[in-house]
Amino acid sequence: MCGIVAYVGPRLAYPILIKGLHRLEYRGYDSAGICLLNGELKVWKCKGKVSELEKYIEGEKLEGTIGMAHTRWATHGEPNQINAHPHYSQSKHLSIIHNGIIENYLVLRKELQQRGFTFTSDTDTEVLIHLIEDIQQNENVAVEEAVRIALTQVIGAYAIVVLSQDNPDKIIAARKGSPMVIGIGEDEFFVASDATPIIEYTNNVVFMNDEEIAIIERHQELKMRTVRNQERTPYIQKLEMSLTAIEKGGFPHFMLKEIFEQPRSILDSMRGRLHLDQDTVTLGGIRDYLPKILNAERIIITACGTSWHAGLVGEYIIEDLARIPVEVEYSSEFRYRNPVISEKDVIIAISQSGETADTLAAIELAKSKGATVLGICNVVGSSIARATHAGVYTHAGPEIGVASTKAFTAQVVVLTLMGLLLAEKKGTLPESYLHKLRLELGIIPSKVEKILQRADKIKDIATIYKDSTNALYLGRGYNFPVALEGALKLKEISYIHAEGYPAAEMKHGPIALIDKNMPVVFIAPKRGIYEKVITNIEEVRARKGNIIAIITEGDESVRKLADHCIEIPDTEEMLIPLLATIPLQLLSYYVAVMRGCNVDQPRNLAKSVTVE
Ligand code: M6R
Repeated sequence: MCGIVAYVGPRLAYPILIKGLHRLEYRGYDSAGICLLNGELKVWKCKGKVSELEKYIEGEKLEGTIGMAHTRWATHGEPNQINAHPHYSQSKHLSIIHNGIIENYLVLRKELQQRGFTFTSDTDTEVLIHLIEDIQQNENVAVEEAVRIALTQVIGAYAIVVLSQDNPDKIIAARKGSPMVIGIGEDEFFVASDATPIIEYTNNVVFMNDEEIAIIERHQELKMRTVRNQERTPYIQKLEMSLTAIEKGGFPHFMLKEIFEQPRSILDSMRGRLHLDQDTVTLGGIRDYLPKILNAERIIITACGTSWHAGLVGEYIIEDLARIPVEVEYSSEFRYRNPVISEKDVIIAISQSGETADTLAAIELAKSKGATVLGICNVVGSSIARATHAGVYTHAGPEIGVASTKAFTAQVVVLTLMGLLLAEKKGTLPESYLHKLRLELGIIPSKVEKILQRADKIKDIATIYKDSTNALYLGRGYNFPVALEGALKLKEISYIHAEGYPAAEMKHGPIALIDKNMPVVFIAPKRGIYEKVITNIEEVRARKGNIIAIITEGDESVRKLADHCIEIPDTEEMLIPLLATIPLQLLSYYVAVMRGCNVDQPRNLAKSVTVE
């Protein structure tokens, strides 16, 4: 969603800000703007892409060594130039950029209007900057104090940056519920919604906590206070992220790069955790909570989107291996439906970004009921990673493409490791079987590699189906979540309507859709209830549906029934999602590219959904 970047230091701010906005583009947005402070505050903004902003300000005097910039994903007010950020205060002496939602903005707006403030936009953000100015004028306080007092009056979520014409060396930043990172360079500071615009300049970062305000001043140490006016010592961390990880590295799209990174990212997610030499699994992040998990009455997995699909795979794995009951809930439903939760429950929140608003709210709810809450996150230092009692990072590396790919497989690996660890400790299964599973998990990266080598074959299939208007994805058991994930991938980047179903459910409705124009993707490896899936394939064939099947290498039975087959290497049943998902990611990718879609930034979508 919205992206923030700000800079103060010895260099010209504009190139840093515009590059930072490009790095944040992946988050999803519909307008962009920039503010430079050079004697006075100058704001330029427009609807559309960052490249359009660049064109819009061509020829302008873009001077100044302090400034801020923003990409907006519209919530209050349509995406247009007026609603784009930054916003000025009434006197134009202050300017603000904001991520999040001020829930009581209508009340505040009315009060400010009564006090003579006029509004040019429909946004909740403009309310905040007028409020800050109102406080500054009436109470005659420094800008940071005015920001602090204003924040005591707002309800909602925010990450804000404020610049003041009268304070040409100062940036004020604050957060609650929306992420914010401060980069500390040599005599310079960077502020951003995530670390991607920063790592090119410094690895020293401070992840702001909720209700913290940062006073960032040229030639000064970073100072922090809370909204309740308590001093805070900034906790400086070293970020282990490389620049190459956030660049395309020769690939046409981030999504393709991230699909092809999976042999490596899967390996990284098990590194130091799967010990084949000692025949065991360790997960340091949850070590202290193991007794709690082993004695849990049930585990509830909560997540959204692709992470929720990984959670479904996790349910099957943990129940199979550890025999602990598992439920999987959409965070958005869980948080509002008054669920029965007790201290005996363990909640696992899964999130790539670690910033998903609904998942964060689900965590807070579970904590308030006394449950133990664990996280499986990709982004180090993210809000979810910090809000949970303990957790395991997926270590998939930065995922920039909006469509989640390598994060999914890394989440499934972590859930598999959890299942193996719990089974080991509980003694639910023979050691020989666990041994076989560990060995097989260890060689999954090489099997993924083999599938990726068949990308051209998948591209050929994409050519045939690129003009379809609908698609059905069917699988059973472990492959049901894979079907859901395949359908989600296709619809979000190619805009083809696609549905995922348990194959047996087809007869209860979707079968009515099948005719010669309907592509049906079956995930049909030679494991689990394979014969039953064959029956489902026959049913589709009888109705002239076009069958694309993901099959185990060498399987001739399904090959005879399907129009197209994509082979994957054989593996243990519970590890199939790690392989079967790969061709489905590639299929969606090629179809979307052939349809001319913006693969990395699909319309209307945001990489991290920080509002509910
Ligand atoms: O960052 P999270 O894993 O919490 O995000 C959850 C979903 O928003 C995300 O998986 C979304 O569905 C992706 N666009 C899927 O590709």
